[in-house]
Amino acid sequence: METTAEEAVEASVTRRSQPLRTLAIDIGGTGIKAVTLSTTGKPLTKRARVKTPRPATPAAVMNTVAELAKAQGSFDRVSVGFPGVVRRGITLNAPNLNGKWGGFHLADALTKKLGVPVRVANDADVQGFGVIAGHGVELVITLGTGFGSGLFVDGKLVPNLEIGHHPLQKGKTYEDLLGDAALKRVGKKKWNKRLVRAIQTLDPTFNYDRLYVGGGNAERITVKLPPNVKIVSNVAGLLGGLALWRD
Ligand code: BGC
Repeated sequence: METTAEEAVEASVTRRSQPLRTLAIDIGGTGIKAVTLSTTGKPLTKRARVKTPRPATPAAVMNTVAELAKAQGSFDRVSVGFPGVVRRGITLNAPNLNGKWGGFHLADALTKKLGVPVRVANDADVQGFGVIAGHGVELVITLGTGFGSGLFVDGKLVPNLEIGHHPLQKGKTYEDLLGDAALKRVGKKKWNKRLVRAIQTLDPTFNYDRLYVGGGNAERITVKLPPNVKIVSNVAGLLGGLALWRD
């Protein structure tokens, strides 16, 4: 039987009897973040962040990821949170990066570049894996450059949910009204009001048990949120990376 690249890595790690190190990367529209995690999700390195290169083409972003990876030291596998729809390692789009991401095999390309197995998932889904309780209906939204979303039922991901591109008000989408550009344009007060309206719409639509609000701009929230809504740290965007290897 053939040995997969993944099995080869696991075997060599077992031989070295050293714990497996997972490099977690979060590709965002504004910054790319990296941290190395232990098998229990403990950060083993300091979280690093660099600006997303512009234009954010696959080649430019991959070079930045490779630089970040080099600075992190040794790792056995890589998890990537990507700001667009991802299907089996292939990116379908990236509204806040560049038009060249349609049909790009990021997992394969990065595996070749970094020399270890790479798994890629949507950034909000990865964030969700880092924060959910695993019971009931849990919705995760992320407020950053874009508006991310991830839906989980008893810990299982419902794939490809893109609330960000759904209209919320007067033909404007959640992302139009709550993305970083909107926050900068209308200011914190109005943006917070919009967030309240968005949550009032999401609650009776998804009937979730819990809603988690993450992403870099979650720290800009000043309004009191309902008891079933929890603000979560943006660092979770990286910690959820371990979940991509649970199978
Ligand atoms: C993308 C999502 C992504 C979100 C946050 C949106 O524009 O469509 O896939 O999760 O931005 O990065």
